[in-house]
Amino acid sequence: MSFSQIVPEHIQHIPPYKSENPAEQVERKLGVPVVQLGMNENPFGPSPKAVQAARAFLEKIAPYPDDSAYFLRQRLASHYKISMDEIIVSSGSSDILAMTYDALHSPGAEVLTGEASFVVFYQLAEILNMGLVRTPMMEYAFDLEAMAERITSKTRLVVLANPNNPTGTIIGRAELDKFMNKAPDHVLVVLDEAYFEYVHDPSYPNALDYVRAGKPVLVLRTFSKVFGLAGLRIGYGISTPEIIETLYKVRMAFNTNSVAQVAALAAWDDREHVQKSVSMNRAELEFLYHELSKRHLRYVPSHANFVLVELKKPARDVTSALLDQGVIVRPAWGCPACMRVSVGTHEQNQAFLAALDRVL
Ligand SMILES: Cc1ncc(COP(=O)(O)O)c(C=O)c1O
Repeated sequence: MSFSQIVPEHIQHIPPYKSENPAEQVERKLGVPVVQLGMNENPFGPSPKAVQAARAFLEKIAPYPDDSAYFLRQRLASHYKISMDEIIVSSGSSDILAMTYDALHSPGAEVLTGEASFVVFYQLAEILNMGLVRTPMMEYAFDLEAMAERITSKTRLVVLANPNNPTGTIIGRAELDKFMNKAPDHVLVVLDEAYFEYVHDPSYPNALDYVRAGKPVLVLRTFSKVFGLAGLRIGYGISTPEIIETLYKVRMAFNTNSVAQVAALAAWDDREHVQKSVSMNRAELEFLYHELSKRHLRYVPSHANFVLVELKKPARDVTSALLDQGVIVRPAWGCPACMRVSVGTHEQNQAFLAALDRVL
């Protein structure tokens, strides 16, 4: 009997996920440094205070980490004025998403999300053999009215990224309120707010209000984006004590390493670094808009640290030509003629535009 015969059929059909074009791999191939604009990281890096805290902690890595992430949860709880049992910390917000799917999957259970959103939303459903309903986007944003109509007795999870990756659009408060009023109690609504700190728009909802009102909502946030700690893998979830306790049932012990916990605390306290990163992102986003318009390229105005660009041709052709030029950007999930470009430093953005001019 071969190994694959013991693997369930739905797993056999999944292509192995290997992150596309990791920068080191491309640099090895091209022999020159690449411009990495494919991962929506903070191009200005983490707070130097976070680096210092992580470095100092390296002396103390023999013991297992604090499994409760006590100090980080305490800091977050006091900032958000919620209790510590409404917070869970893990190695990245996507890991908390995985716990959520684990906790809620059962035969026939369905996940509802949009056509063009974060790849992990789809992957988790495939891995667990859950039904996946993807509703078409409207003007690159989630169509919440259409989504509400697709909720059935089988729906267990509605997953929304706000801002959405890869489109950079947001769901406004009025629209989300309306949706939440229609969502039945047997559905958990996940609001993935990985890019939360970048949003300025006054219509952006305060997702914690739904949690405070006792709604079945899980809010996910992360240290991977504006805090610049993607390499350490740390994120958190906020929900009602009952939902957080359920996630603790499926969580792996010691899931958040100790270096990440101390670095996240220091990064959290360095508000100045966050502010600086946000305003530099805004300025560079404006620069990219201006330069894309000059080239008659349409883009979707973004609330995050990346921008979706319409190409009117298969995005893969353009992204692989850019790769040959040493610039990594990504084709966008759910939009085959769009590429997603992370906002870089000014030099990186200029290098991207120069490469784009050679390619198009
Ligand atoms: C919408 C969204 N959620 C979550 C993540 C990943 O967050 P983490 O690194 O905390 O797992 C990303 C990263 O690209 C994202 O775009």
